[in-house]
Amino acid sequence: MLDHPLPPFPDGFLWGASTSGYQVEGGWDADGKGPSVVDARTDFPAGTADYTVASDHYHHLEEDVALFAELGLTAYRFSVQWSRVIPDGDGEVNPAGLAFYRRLVDLLVEHGIEPVVTLYHFDLPQALALKGGWGSRATIDAFVRYAQLLYRELGHAVRYWLTINEQNMMVLHGQQLDILDGPANRDVNVYQKNHHMLLAQARAMAALHEQLPGALIGPAPNIAYVYPASPDPADVIAADDFNAVRNWLYLDVAVHGRYHPVAWAHLQATGQAPTVDPGDAQVLAAAHPDFLAFNYYATHTVAAPARDGSVDAPEGMDQQIAVGMPGLFTAVPNPWLPKNAFGWEIDPVGFRMTFRAIYDRYHLPLLVTENGLGAFDTLEPDGSVHDPYRIEYLAAHIEQIQRAIGDGVDVLGYCPWSAIDLVSTHQGVAKRYGFIYVDRTDDDLRSLARHRKDSFGWYQKVIAANGLPG
Ligand code: BG6
Repeated sequence: MLDHPLPPFPDGFLWGASTSGYQVEGGWDADGKGPSVVDARTDFPAGTADYTVASDHYHHLEEDVALFAELGLTAYRFSVQWSRVIPDGDGEVNPAGLAFYRRLVDLLVEHGIEPVVTLYHFDLPQALALKGGWGSRATIDAFVRYAQLLYRELGHAVRYWLTINEQNMMVLHGQQLDILDGPANRDVNVYQKNHHMLLAQARAMAALHEQLPGALIGPAPNIAYVYPASPDPADVIAADDFNAVRNWLYLDVAVHGRYHPVAWAHLQATGQAPTVDPGDAQVLAAAHPDFLAFNYYATHTVAAPARDGSVDAPEGMDQQIAVGMPGLFTAVPNPWLPKNAFGWEIDPVGFRMTFRAIYDRYHLPLLVTENGLGAFDTLEPDGSVHDPYRIEYLAAHIEQIQRAIGDGVDVLGYCPWSAIDLVSTHQGVAKRYGFIYVDRTDDDLRSLARHRKDSFGWYQKVIAANGLPG
């Protein structure tokens, strides 16, 4: 392994933290907000929180931003809930919804925190889902209009924009996790929806450059480098296939405006290739991201597919626990990696590998928009929360960022998940990620009071020192 002295983090490195609107805000129908697909979900397992109150950030805005400032964040990555600002996705604008986000970005700027805004994080307005969701090209136009509204209303304070959070996870797992476009649209080819999202993203990137010269925009997929289970060439090809289908499909279109050949061949072979209209290629080719954001939790490891086409679907599969694809690969556990309490592997070195792989392919600056440890935290009677496991996880990953910088990768910043506790995608509040503990459980809203975890004090020192303590 290439081992060089660890370089310092560059001046101006963005030390951030992340959230998403529906997972943190609550106020699900406050002040004219319309429902989104996550509000319309009714399938929460017993004892798992829904998103109606979440961390009630909507009603704790000033307090939360003051805590982010005390933490020392120089960036805060959050998402706007589309249906808060346009309740039915494509009609009247809701001034109260816009005012909330204007207040948020202005507060951040007042505190010297760079806002990093995700346009869309799993929460398609329910009204658009009922009109065909991402299967309909009308949703592309609605998305572009929504993006242009945000550029106009928030552009005075926001330089960094992200288009769509984890589009690849919406495609690969969106239907099981109910984070795509609702049950009514399940029969539509998910790669047709994906194609429409890619067009929406391309038009939103082009619109930003036209409307806000000087502002920067990029996609924010979940990128996990895929390892072969062994040097058996069949396993190596399987890993290359999954890298193409899981990772490069999304970034190749965003950067080069064309589909990755292996991914496209897979879509064709499986009858999932989308219909591409005349003019689509030009739209895709006309858009250029300024940087690439990515969320990283762990790598995947895969072997050649079973000959009989069967696929082992691990218990509890989700966005970070791969499922095999018939004819393409079988997902296998990596015996070298430990797992967290929720079965997700932990692979800091894979983080460095993922940086290298993305940078080698695209040569664009990289911004980490998620990385973190979901864990069961305990609030002690004196209000403290001891989370040494999270500090250990984050420290190991920050060291690998430094190693990636030493490898020559241009890294803009690090926004771990999450700034404050929030509701996870499908495992409720009990699975916590934040630097700030929110006093609620899955079935009891308690005080919703905020408490600084030990990781809060630790990250504060990292930020102040512009790197890990020596
Ligand atoms: C990412 C998502 O997949 O991982 C977040 O962008 C999510 O929305 C995060 O919360 C952690 O996953 P989970 O399932 O533990 O909430």
